[in-house]
Amino acid sequence: MFVVLISIVVLCVCLYVHSFRSYRSWYELNIPYHKFNPRYPFCIERLYTILKLAITSAEERFKIINALCLQYSDMVKVWFGPQLVVFVNHPQRVQKVLRSPECTDKWDMFYRLIERENALTFRTASAKWKEHRKFFNFSYSLPALESYMNTFADVGDEFCEILYKKKAGSVFNIQEIVKKICFDMLCETSCDMKTKVMFDESTYEDIINAFEITEEAFNHKAEFPFLYPDTIFKLTKIRRDEKKAQQILDEFRNHIMETRRSKMRENESIDSGNYALIDHLVRNEEKFTSKEILDHILNFIGAYEILGNTMSHMLLLIAMHPEVQERLYESIQKSIKSDEDVRNSAIIKQIELLDLVVKEATRLMPGVPLVMRDVNNDFEIEPGLVIPKGVKLVVSFYALHRHRDVWGNDAEEFKPERFCEENASSRFLFSFLPFSGGIRICVGNKYSNMALKIITVQLLRKFKLRTTMKMDDFRLKSTISLKMCTEHWVSVEARE
Ligand code: HEM
Repeated sequence: MFVVLISIVVLCVCLYVHSFRSYRSWYELNIPYHKFNPRYPFCIERLYTILKLAITSAEERFKIINALCLQYSDMVKVWFGPQLVVFVNHPQRVQKVLRSPECTDKWDMFYRLIERENALTFRTASAKWKEHRKFFNFSYSLPALESYMNTFADVGDEFCEILYKKKAGSVFNIQEIVKKICFDMLCETSCDMKTKVMFDESTYEDIINAFEITEEAFNHKAEFPFLYPDTIFKLTKIRRDEKKAQQILDEFRNHIMETRRSKMRENESIDSGNYALIDHLVRNEEKFTSKEILDHILNFIGAYEILGNTMSHMLLLIAMHPEVQERLYESIQKSIKSDEDVRNSAIIKQIELLDLVVKEATRLMPGVPLVMRDVNNDFEIEPGLVIPKGVKLVVSFYALHRHRDVWGNDAEEFKPERFCEENASSRFLFSFLPFSGGIRICVGNKYSNMALKIITVQLLRKFKLRTTMKMDDFRLKSTISLKMCTEHWVSVEARE
């Protein structure tokens, strides 16, 4: 009891000292201030907010943050314990933030929770980040994408094979299958190897599980802020599991690198113009430390999680809207005349409704619902309004995509036509950011877009998707990626 009392007193003193130091920033920043509990005085309220968010469920926390972003359509400042945080909600200000060199760094308290500190997604925007970013853009450029078209289509075929084995009308969680096919797709395009062929079934399962465990460990830490300090987290079983998983992933990385190196030594018909990330890494190995290589591989392959979640959300939305599904099927049938056409990016890009559906699905369910940035130098967000160095910024794409003044009163509804040329042309560019925007825009955005389209085409050509779930069943939570609190229940009916 005594220890608890002392801890609370020490915490309060620290908060007061910190308040004093950051009071100037707070005072000078002339934007609305949101108190989560207006009855409490300033310092207690700061403590209250962080405790409330720490003990509340991930689902509830997601709701609180979104309600806050929707309540203040421009900007709002809040205290999360000792930290002054500004939520930037207006598309024009979002553009300013995402394009400014002063705000390119991530809020590391959160992002360092995942043990991939060298990966592009998590590291600060240093000269090294720039160099690595340039380096990896090569593997996700448009020509690279062209070379992946066959893999996308093959993976789509495998997906359909799995669905053909489902009994007509039986209900299953489509996300389980989708995540695995996204994993295969990312392994194949990144490593130019079929992981299922390369590893026996149990090793393959161990590798996927290891990815899931590291992801879960991150989610767990992010959900329970009292686990943030390493000294506490080290005591948990999740940390022990995470360590074992990391060993498996390290062996996986060693194995694929070694296989690739020896193939290159044997000069086994590896085209020097190959875009696969692994070849690019092996050819330039001296530029990276081995931990950097591990972090990059895990980050790029680990993106299967976000892609898989986004694809599952999209397929569920299509299943929930049979009328849109039928129109989409007809558009696909008009454009795709043979299995070969599915492998042709120009034909895929011509299917207008497909583009609208992917956009609308990623508007309602952006794979990464928010990003958090660190202001690394005083930053003028509008003439005369300076956000001081050290303040953290949050941009919620999830809320941005629901602002009624941009999207109208039907913002919560699934209406692909809102992206038709005549409806979209007057909309401000930074109102719709499923892959973020500006300097740190997602490296895999074009890749993901094409993968989402091809898989949808493959699936709808062969099946009708059904679900009894409704839009209200989208109970959501988020850590890095947007997740449903429930499963993605669907059934499929093969088309004649
Ligand atoms: C639907 C799937 C995906 C979505 C919604 C998505 C979304 C995002 C978002 C919002 C960011 C943060 C950008 C920022 O901080 O402003 C990001 C970063 C990133 N994404 Fe994706 N992503 C997806 C798939 C992928 C895939 C498949 C890859 C790789 C093959 C990938 C690679 C990356 C990388 C490397 C970054 C870090 C960029 C940087 O900070 O320089 N993403 N992504």
